[in-house]
Amino acid sequence: MKKLILVANWKSNMTKDEAKKWLEDFSMQDIPEKIEVILLAPYTLLDMISGYIKVNDIPIRLGSQNVSRFPKGAHTGEIYANQIKELADYSLVGHSERRSNFGETDEVVNKKIQAAEEVGIKTIVCVSNLDQVNSLIADDIIIAYEPIESIGTGKAEDPHVVTEVANKIKKLKDVRIIYGGSVNSENIRNYTDLENIEGALVGTESLNAKSFLKIIKNAS
Ligand code: PGA
Repeated sequence: MKKLILVANWKSNMTKDEAKKWLEDFSMQDIPEKIEVILLAPYTLLDMISGYIKVNDIPIRLGSQNVSRFPKGAHTGEIYANQIKELADYSLVGHSERRSNFGETDEVVNKKIQAAEEVGIKTIVCVSNLDQVNSLIADDIIIAYEPIESIGTGKAEDPHVVTEVANKIKKLKDVRIIYGGSVNSENIRNYTDLENIEGALVGTESLNAKSFLKIIKNAS
């Protein structure tokens, strides 16, 4: 049985109190050992969550939603890799919202992956096409295939298309691949059952702990 990665991407949501409530709700259910849960939280919550999951022994790995491509120094507003490393094990890089709204090019994506890698942070790299896969230099990454028209639209991609793309990605790079785009508890299994898909990246449906737990329950 393959080990699945289920990633909650909170995006720009959640205050401290809301996050605490989510964690309380989440910790009420046991998580199967074959499922690795990664929570991508806003920077402002990483410290609190990292403490909370340690103290309460909650099986969540923590990640940031971004990482600076620069080392420490005069880069106002940026959070550099070593600062993240103190609190989290993963960083998301190249989400389509960052590519389209913040001008992140393939070159920037590669620099961010490299900055994270240098301090031992593993990156989950979002791609929406094969050109973006081809441009990636690093090999020790997780790729999240996220077709743009499926993100936040309720129109999850046809699993046949996902499997076709995943097979092509696998030929280009021997990495773990997950699917993202309107994943919910009803359709999760359509993706986790696919040969080259090893999990999912969940946005909207991860904001409610109970909905996310349902996805975990139905994933295998
Ligand atoms: P969604 O978001 O689940 O709301 O479609 C996925 C993502 O953007 O990572």
